[in-house]
This record gives sequence, structure tokens and C-alpha cells, in this order.
Amino acid sequence: MKTVDMLNTAKRVIENAYAPYSKFRVAAVLYGEEGLFTGVNVENASYGLTVCAERVAVFKAISEGKRKFEKMLIYTPGQQSLPYPCGACRQVLAEFFPEDFTVIVANDREEEQFNLGELLPFNFRL
Ligand code: THU
Repeated sequence: MKTVDMLNTAKRVIENAYAPYSKFRVAAVLYGEEGLFTGVNVENASYGLTVCAERVAVFKAISEGKRKFEKMLIYTPGQQSLPYPCGACRQVLAEFFPEDFTVIVANDREEEQFNLGELLPFNFRL
């Protein structure tokens, strides 16, 4: 799937982001041979209970028995900054996906592409 198609999917599901506290909306699109899963950030009045878009997408996929994915696009609308994934989400991605897994971050103006090994070198493993 092309980046533009993943971006269009993210722009569709961003409407579901629940971010009344930070107003920082994020959508994640996970794609691979087993299909496509989306996630959005879901905040809570007890702020620490908030779950990032990336983890929603990964946990949806894993809980459906799907683990083979090539890439994730992370999108935020109306921001100057790019939505680089937080440290917790990087660790969750590294649990399931290899170092050459592609991570694309995008806003309405630009996008950047990395692989997971660059974003989280020497990740913790048991
Ligand atoms: N957020 C994500 O969804 N993904 C990230 O990688 C970083 C932050 C969300 C959490 C919260 O709802 C908002 O962005 C501001 O931190």
C-alpha cells in the first residue's frame, strides 16, 4: 500500500480521535500482508490512562491474531510538528516488529520515514 493511501485512511479515522484534553489528535495506520488496522488516541479525564493511537492499532491487530506487518503511518492534523511515536509506543512496536519495520510520520505539510531500528536502537528484550 502506498503512503498516500495510508495517509488518506488516517485522515478518515482521525475523526474518531478522542482528545478533548490535549486537543492533539493522532491516527495510526498499520499495514501488512495480513491487512490493515487503524488506531486513534483515546484520552481520559484521569490523564495517565490515555492510550496512544499507535498502541490502539497494534493491540487491535494482535488481539485479532494478526502479527505480520510491514509499516505504520502516524498522522496528526493541524500541527507544525510531526508525530514522532513516544518511547512507550516504540517499545511496543519493537515487541512485535523487526528492525526494518517502516515508520512514517506525517502532518498536513510533510512526512518523514524511518525504520524501527533507527527509532529504538538497543531495545529491551528478554
Ligand atoms: N499521542 C499519541 O497518540 N501517540 C504518540 O506517540 C504520542 C502522543 C497522543 C497521546 C495524547 O492523547 C496526545 O497525543 C498528547 O500527548
